[in-house]
Amino acid sequence: MATDLATLTFIGIESSCDDTAASVVRHVEGALPQILSSVVEGQTALHAAFGGVVPEIAARAHAERLDGCVEQALAQAGLALSDIDGIAVTAGPGLIGGVLSGVMLAKGLSAGSGKPLIGVNHLAGHALTPRLTDGLAFPYLMLLVSGGHCQFLIADAPETFHRLGGTIDDAPGEAFDKVAKLLALPQPGGPRVEDQAKQGDPKRFAFPRPLLDRPGCDLSFSGLKTAVLRARDALIAEKGGITVQDRRDICAGFQAAVAAVLAEKTRRAIAVYLERAPDSPALAVAGGVAANTAIRQALETVCAAQGVRFLAPPLRLCTDNAAMIAWAGIERFRIGARDGMDLSARPRWPLDQTAAPMIGSGKKGAKA
Ligand code: KG4
Ligand code: ZN
Repeated sequence: MATDLATLTFIGIESSCDDTAASVVRHVEGALPQILSSVVEGQTALHAAFGGVVPEIAARAHAERLDGCVEQALAQAGLALSDIDGIAVTAGPGLIGGVLSGVMLAKGLSAGSGKPLIGVNHLAGHALTPRLTDGLAFPYLMLLVSGGHCQFLIADAPETFHRLGGTIDDAPGEAFDKVAKLLALPQPGGPRVEDQAKQGDPKRFAFPRPLLDRPGCDLSFSGLKTAVLRARDALIAEKGGITVQDRRDICAGFQAAVAAVLAEKTRRAIAVYLERAPDSPALAVAGGVAANTAIRQALETVCAAQGVRFLAPPLRLCTDNAAMIAWAGIERFRIGARDGMDLSARPRWPLDQTAAPMIGSGKKGAKA
């Protein structure tokens, strides 16, 4: 039976890090896509004792939970698999055990139902989210800022992304998490550091602004984290410990440095993007760090100064979810992409295949 391309209903499956997720998305051409269901089962509690995501534990949990998530997503959408036009699954990048679990399940569903299979790049899922939420037109500028990734991309088409720059070491969320650890704050560190920073003096500690002296849009956050460690140790050496106010001031100084670096690099990325003279210039952000109010404000200010629309999808769609995978599947399907039973799970899968490989790009294979 030929599928009517004007109305597409896809199920998306996501299992590349520590969220097991399934979602049903419907798109009627000319209207905004509808998320009919979005189930996300996190694994924070399973990994809490280990201070990070343990790949084997994650893979086992995905294998145990994926079936249930898919059933729930279909039930919440009020649909059966036979009502679905295609099955989209994250085929990388990510922790390979989890990606494999998802890809195998999707292949089974596709083989059993005869529905088309579409492999999706997890990062493309994030990068296409502003089209799911706001119907944003290409080309737009995208900043991915999460615990696993940090990069500027120009999104030109569902499978065409041009990377302008990215982190050469840690991702900003990773830096927030490490700073929280250094200051004995619980994980995930970002929201805790932000909280502390609200009552801190951002000027007391002169933390570095890494890579601002170099042209281009690449970023670095690991030196900043080391500067925080040195500041903490200097206080301990001097007074035998750090006070509550010291901690707030360190957090405020660190956050101000991250915001300043992201703002300046965003300004440069926008300048490159504007050379293309897009009709309705826009910058969209995705990733957990986009939840940070100070960082968001800094980015909004830069956008306003350059006449660029600023978009931040709701947090549940900025962080890992399967609606973005279903949507990216619909986008790929519309341009004719189809995958077969030879679809492979990939631990690494850069979005911009033409860009030079990065020295580092946040946690390898971790979630974006
Ligand atoms: O996108 P996400 O949920 O998953 C990853 O890709 O990791 O992002 C999580 C990251 C964590 O590192 C977390 O500390 C950071 O985003 N984060 C924040 C804030 N909320 C979450 N960082 C700074 N400020 C926040 N308010
Ligand atoms: Zn992600």
